Amino acid sequence: MHASGLPRPILLDCDPGTDDALAILLALASPELAIEAITVPGGNAPLERTLANALGLVALAGKTIPVHAGADRALLGPYPPGWSGHGADGMAGVALPPGQAAAPGIAADAIRAALGAAPAPLTLVGIAPATNLALALATEPALAANVAEIVLMSGARNAGNTTPAAEFNAHADPEALAILTASGAPLTLVPLEAGRAVRASPARIASLAAAGSGRAIRTAGAILTALPRPAAETGPALYDPLAIAWLIRPALFRARPITLAIDRDPGPARGRTLIAEAPAPTRTRLLEPLDPDGIFALLAERLARLP
Ligand code: RIB
Ligand code: CA
Repeated sequence: MHASGLPRPILLDCDPGTDDALAILLALASPELAIEAITVPGGNAPLERTLANALGLVALAGKTIPVHAGADRALLGPYPPGWSGHGADGMAGVALPPGQAAAPGIAADAIRAALGAAPAPLTLVGIAPATNLALALATEPALAANVAEIVLMSGARNAGNTTPAAEFNAHADPEALAILTASGAPLTLVPLEAGRAVRASPARIASLAAAGSGRAIRTAGAILTALPRPAAETGPALYDPLAIAWLIRPALFRARPITLAIDRDPGPARGRTLIAEAPAPTRTRLLEPLDPDGIFALLAERLARLP
């Protein structure tokens, strides 16, 4: 909620994708947020799958939110293959209800329209390759003045997950990420390390299942159960929901000022995020979870509210 007590207006750009699905459901279940629109690029799966999944998740939550199709490739070429754990359908084989039709108009235009019409600054949440968000801000840079904050799940302080150097969203479209970092809007980053600190352990999945019996929370439990469990880890990392949890309950995180640069050379480090802690406040912050159990409890409590 804003200090005014009104819900915080957001626009969510996502590529569902299993962890995107949990983020979308968390956002739809949380009265602190008002989702103006959802926009979808390809990424974890081809665009037709990520779009269908986004529409199905909105239907699963029993909500009506405009969902716009966006980029099916990065600014300079095709997206790399997504993580195999999402499965060919992007949902690890978990069925979703059929959704409504996609809203008319492409994502970048919808983002620009939302920013232009917003009575108050809008928060842009990006949990996918940043192509749609970058196209919107690059074609109308003045709109950055209407952005309250850009919250991105992107990048890594250390090793990547798609190449040794780069995290998937950053690697998929480094030029788009660079456009966002240069936009002048405040930027909050959820890096790989944050997600790796919040894992869907069997105990946490069980606590989520015990929290409610609606179709949405059961679907979330089925997704978490279907994800491959990395060897020597307690469970799969939870990346995208952290971007939403930050907006709902920031006390669950530490935010440190950083400097951020993106490696856009064509070599093996392409998409690497060069992150350094800054001695004084900057426009860019890096999130670190303070209470992984608290984050999971928030997820369970909110998803239990859905039908
Ligand atoms: O690297 C993790 C990110 O890439 C998450 O957003 C996940 O959904 C994939 O898109
Ligand atoms: Ca994602």
